[in-house]
Amino acid sequence: MRQRGNERDEATRQRGDMEPDLSVELCGVRLPNPTVLASGILGLSHGTWVRLARIGVGAITTKSVSLKPRPGYPNPVIVDWGGGLINAVGLSNPGIEVMVEEIRAAKEKLAPYGVPLIASIFANTIYDFGTIARYISEAEPDLIEVNISCPNLDSQYEEMFAANAYVSAQVTARVKRNTEIPVFVKLSPNVTDIVEIARAVADAGADGITAINSLGPGLVLDIETARPVLAHGTGGVSGPAIHPIAVRCVRDICRAVELPVIGVGGVTTGRDVVEMILVGATAVGVGSAVAWQGLEVFPRLCAELRDYMRRHGYQRIEEFRGKAL
Ligand code: DHB
Repeated sequence: MRQRGNERDEATRQRGDMEPDLSVELCGVRLPNPTVLASGILGLSHGTWVRLARIGVGAITTKSVSLKPRPGYPNPVIVDWGGGLINAVGLSNPGIEVMVEEIRAAKEKLAPYGVPLIASIFANTIYDFGTIARYISEAEPDLIEVNISCPNLDSQYEEMFAANAYVSAQVTARVKRNTEIPVFVKLSPNVTDIVEIARAVADAGADGITAINSLGPGLVLDIETARPVLAHGTGGVSGPAIHPIAVRCVRDICRAVELPVIGVGGVTTGRDVVEMILVGATAVGVGSAVAWQGLEVFPRLCAELRDYMRRHGYQRIEEFRGKAL
């Protein structure tokens, strides 16, 4: 009898002391926690990725890479306008060959931390999306993210690929035909109906969806010179101002399709992370907040998420994912 009582006490004690488990899975790829470095931030060198892994990020998305190197737009390319950031970088990147080497170098060094790498790809034509998917797959990233939603660049159609459901599906199908690696398609909020696009890429074989890319383009002026603050003129708007729009988009997508979603958009606090998970996100991207707060933002978000889970008695993320749907 006494023995049994002790066992029960021990079980209760263990339950009470047990740390919430923050790990999640995206298409069979395990993340130690749901926080993801969003594309475009610190995404070019494997040295930085290893520092991120060491500090406790859940996954890392590279900056979008194209077949050929791109110099991008002249400076200034990014400005803090008060409610968030506005940026027009012009998808500057060193091209696929350099990125393949970076990813290869990173894979080995990230392995001890169990932090997966998501390679973001970009192209000007549907055909080139297939080619770059094939090249990037040689580096064996854990996941591929397809950026069809940059607000600063025109595609072969003189609008974002993500503006059109048929075109988005064509890109998705082309990428899928050229890789065995799970494919996440990154959607834009700058459309009439994001759910229509989500359904189209899901039907075309996407394994997951990343939502949202930056909002806009927006325009911020220097009123003394009457000129835009960005050299390019207009740019993508990000940061806390767009968070409620991102949450609504993620909710609508999660209601409509069965795919895992990486929720991105103005995530700055643990509260924002929880919100994304409540509307169905499996993982949560962080971009602008890294620019303001540095790498420390990731352990802080995880600590705040853990506090929330403890307060609610949740042991695992799945226990509250989609609760607001
Ligand atoms: C750029 C690309 C993006 O996908 C985005 O959301 C904002 C800016 C760029 O490189 O200009």
